[in-house]
Amino acid sequence: MNLLIAVSGWDVTPWVERFAALLPDRKVVTLGEPFDRRDVHYAVSWKHPPGSLAGLPNLAAVFSLGAGVDHLMGDDRLPEAPIVRVVDPDLTDRMSEYVVLHCLMHLRRQRRHDAQQRDKVWDAAAHPPAAREVRVGVMGLGVLGRDATRKLNVMGFDVAGWSRSPKNAGDITTYSGDAGLVEFLARTDILVCLLPLTAETRGILNKELFARLAQGGRLGGPILVNAGRGGLQVEADILASLGDGTLKAATLDVFETEPLPPSSPLWSHPAVTVTPHNAATSEADAISAYIAGQIRRFEAGEPLANVVQRDLGY
Ligand code: NDP
Ligand code: OXD
Repeated sequence: MNLLIAVSGWDVTPWVERFAALLPDRKVVTLGEPFDRRDVHYAVSWKHPPGSLAGLPNLAAVFSLGAGVDHLMGDDRLPEAPIVRVVDPDLTDRMSEYVVLHCLMHLRRQRRHDAQQRDKVWDAAAHPPAAREVRVGVMGLGVLGRDATRKLNVMGFDVAGWSRSPKNAGDITTYSGDAGLVEFLARTDILVCLLPLTAETRGILNKELFARLAQGGRLGGPILVNAGRGGLQVEADILASLGDGTLKAATLDVFETEPLPPSSPLWSHPAVTVTPHNAATSEADAISAYIAGQIRRFEAGEPLANVVQRDLGY
């Protein structure tokens, strides 16, 4: 019943220590050491090298160390075992903090006040609209999108959401599918993207979509907040749309290439706020306890929770 930890770009040692402490009755192995592939029953992955999970004949499940699973789906030798993603209140709360923070930052023009403070300018005349006058549209009404819409609603924003399948979300107006997208965009002043990256959503944040956002809203132009994945956005289109006024501003946590290369004009664009893909980082203790708990329950006969639908890619 060994556990294989397969990560790249992260230090594996803290994960080995955590899982060894949480599951003391099994051996925790890593890709960097020899191990018997027949003994591996569970794999834990964050951007594992493609093909490295192939040839594990007794694999019962693959656990993503994040909520997103696009890092797994790109592996064309991914085993058939169920893929389980992270759903964790700590991660969900952090994402909603990020979304509410950046919507409020744009509402209250905080970037402008930062610049004015640097220049010692006292401009009390600027009168921002109230949250209720600003329409926020959240793309993706999954675990993260639903929580964010609820908390944006509490702040007073006029909130709507868009998803693949129809939803009933209480106070939130919902739209779905291609049919609902145009209407959803037309009533959106701040577009928050919390979609997964799939074959269907890649590049969805492009200039044609931006051109459909509401014009004439209280913020002086549409604003983009993307904390989903960098592959959802076409960065050249974001820059062009900021240049011609189709977009007024953007907050970006995720990028086509990460880390964002120093040569990217996004770094120094006056209307762009850059954060380093940390809108909702996986808190290691919470995530490893979640995975260990799933393994224990699975072995006690319960079904795995939060299993990804492979055909949909999320
Ligand atoms: P979920 O799987 O719970 O929700 C995904 C939502 O997206 C669902 O509402 C789904 O619709 C919708 N969706 C998927 N495909 C489409 C489509 N083609 N058209 C319209 N809607 C679509 O995911 P989470 O909410 O847990 O996470 C969302 C994403 O957030 C992750 O995949 C990850 O990429 C990103 N993320 C980013 C982090 C960061 O730090 N920046 C941290 C954690 C996650 P339906 O409800 O109909 O299925
Ligand atoms: C995730 C992430 O998917 O941190 O959890 O991006």
